[in-house]
Amino acid sequence: MLITLLSAKGSPGVTTAALALAAEWPYTAVMIDADPSGGDVAAGLGRGSWPPASTLIGLAVEARHTPVEAALRRLVVRPAAHCPLTLAGLTTPEQSAALPWQQLAVGFRAISDADLLCDGGRYTPSDGVASLLHASDHVVLVTRSALPPVRAVARLVPVLRDEVLAADCLLSILVVGGGRPYAASDIATNCGAALLGELPLDPRAAFVWSEGQSPRRGFGRSQLQRAARDIAARLASDQPAMAAEGLR
Ligand SMILES: Nc1ncnc2c1ncn2[C@@H]1O[C@H](COP(=O)(O)OP(=O)(O)O)[C@@H](O)[C@H]1O
Ligand SMILES: [Mg+2]
Repeated sequence: MLITLLSAKGSPGVTTAALALAAEWPYTAVMIDADPSGGDVAAGLGRGSWPPASTLIGLAVEARHTPVEAALRRLVVRPAAHCPLTLAGLTTPEQSAALPWQQLAVGFRAISDADLLCDGGRYTPSDGVASLLHASDHVVLVTRSALPPVRAVARLVPVLRDEVLAADCLLSILVVGGGRPYAASDIATNCGAALLGELPLDPRAAFVWSEGQSPRRGFGRSQLQRAARDIAARLASDQPAMAAEGLR
């Protein structure tokens, strides 16, 4: 399954959510930092020392002569025991223009023995990331609960459905820090997409993913990881149920 998370506006916690979900995934999962504006995984989770080839650029180079699946298998790393298998992202936004997005997206889609969770960053219409979105089985819009980001989600939902996503792609909303002030369920209803779930504000646990802080004892039982576990289970297994309910 190919899942892409992205934001409509700002920095709600897409990278954090993708890593937290991938870490709690009930099957084999790979987190791919595909933020076209430049990835944060190498500097954040990797604290600046990431194997240089284990990036989207490294993958594109290998994919010139090797199938994407085999190249990805060789390049992903698990930087520490609490982390998912991960591929870091671009170093600069300029690299996005040279990336064979289409080829990588088709290759990702063909992988059958792992689920891929891609961090698509913040949506901008001109990016090559559109081919990744088009190839995805499920696209998750990550948002905070204040009016400006929620408005941006409400505007983006019809654009994605009409112009970017495949007809059978599921589209859902993941709210980070609901109730500030809008409830997650109201956000989903007003934006016209299914509610995937809600991640609590949990700065200490979030810093493990966004800044590469060492997890403290009980990290696995933190609010963030417990919520991520529930959402990962639903996202990994309830795909047909969501489709049957008529949500896309
Ligand atoms: N659930 C959360 N609770 C508290 N802070 C969070 C949460 N998710 C993300 N953050 C914080 O928000 C900031 C941006 O997170 P990041 O995942 O890099 O966002 P994005 O990928 O959308 O730019 C980071 O400082 C991160 O620690
Ligand atoms: Mg990010």
